[in-house]
Amino acid sequence: MSPSGGRRPLSLLLLLLLLLGTGLAAGSAHCPSGCSCGYLEVNCTGRQLQEFPAAIPLDTRQLILAANNVSYLPAVELSFLADLVYLDCQKNLLGDDLDFTFIGVAKLVYLDLSFNNLTQVTFGTFSQLLSLVVLKISDNPNLVAIEKDAFANNTWLRHLDVSRTGLTFLDTSTVRDLPNLRFLGLSDNPWHCNCSFLDFITWMAGSNVHFPDADNITCYTPKAFRAWKLPAAEVQLRSSCLTQLHKQDYIFLCFVGFCIFFAGTVVAWLAGVCAVIYQVHTSKGEEDEEEEDAVT
Ligand SMILES: *[C@@H]1O[C@H](CO)[C@@H](O)[C@H](O)[C@H]1NC(C)=O
Ligand SMILES: *[C@@H]1O[C@H](CO)[C@@H](O)[C@H](O)[C@H]1NC(C)=O
Ligand SMILES: *[C@@H]1O[C@H](CO)[C@@H](O)[C@H](O)[C@H]1NC(C)=O
Ligand SMILES: *[C@@H]1O[C@H](CO)[C@@H](O)[C@H](O)[C@H]1NC(C)=O
Ligand SMILES: *[C@@H]1O[C@H](CO)[C@@H](O)[C@H](O)[C@H]1NC(C)=O
Ligand SMILES: *[C@@H]1O[C@H](CO)[C@@H](O)[C@H](O)[C@H]1NC(C)=O
Repeated sequence: MSPSGGRRPLSLLLLLLLLLGTGLAAGSAHCPSGCSCGYLEVNCTGRQLQEFPAAIPLDTRQLILAANNVSYLPAVELSFLADLVYLDCQKNLLGDDLDFTFIGVAKLVYLDLSFNNLTQVTFGTFSQLLSLVVLKISDNPNLVAIEKDAFANNTWLRHLDVSRTGLTFLDTSTVRDLPNLRFLGLSDNPWHCNCSFLDFITWMAGSNVHFPDADNITCYTPKAFRAWKLPAAEVQLRSSCLTQLHKQDYIFLCFVGFCIFFAGTVVAWLAGVCAVIYQVHTSKGEEDEEEEDAVT
């Protein structure tokens, strides 16, 4: 037996162990504890997670964190997942501070943030997501404001759901300028149907976008329009806004009339004063002349 012959199986065994070891290590690093993993996919649904899970494989395309207690998404850790296209964070405790959270996941196509605690959406929230097609931010009862240009950079957006939030107003330009929008969830929001909202309602009436659950898209305030369906309330609201305009016109006309009257009075008064001054002056001059005449 040669000494080399004995060493070869030993080194092979070592190599095998080494491979197995690294394989196991990689395996454990490849799936966060408590989550289940598939090909390019990590699923951590309903694991009572308080925080964004560590050690997510860097090549993950689909990450599901639904039904946990995550209150914060760390932008840096998220940005390691540069290939992420699908992120489901529904039913968590995510709050308002999402600006620049998604700065490193520019390939995101699908983002579900429904059933969270968002309070506002600004331009900075989703502006880096140039490929976004589906955005679900429904069922955020404290969401009360969406900035006018919040989706200005999301030109591929096709499906947007803002149902069951606290929104009372949406600017027409926020959604009108999205060329690919086909689905817009607006139901069960406390819409405030004042004259500023008329423009949005008019846009709804003429657009090709699908508004699901249309029976539950209603005005909440003012009271006169409570439970009126959109966009059917358009005609009613338009006439009420027009009569309001007429009232304004009347006020304006009264104001102009008063101005003319006032200006006329002032001019007449000034003319009177001038006349009196002139008269006094000329009569004084005559008296002087008379006095001069008397002296000569
Ligand atoms: C993720 O896991 C949950 C249960 O753990 C399962 O119901 C769900 O279908 C999974 N989702 C995907 C996309 O595999
Ligand atoms: C997660 O939140 C739910 C409801 O918000 C609560 O009932 C549960 O106790 C929380 N779990 C943990 C581990 O904090
Ligand atoms: C939701 O956000 C509001 C305002 O930021 C806060 O007062 C409230 O406690 C939050 N709710 C939950 C369940 O985190
Ligand atoms: C918005 O999109 C433009 C290009 O379409 C890009 O240059 C710009 O950086 C984006 N804004 C942000 C805040 O990412
Ligand atoms: C209409 O309501 C919205 C939101 O409640 C408000 O921002 C806007 O100023 C209101 N417009 C008028 C004309 O009252
Ligand atoms: C509309 O709202 C009512 C009450 O808020 C609810 O019972 C009903 O299921 C909703 N309709 C749809 C289609 O969701």
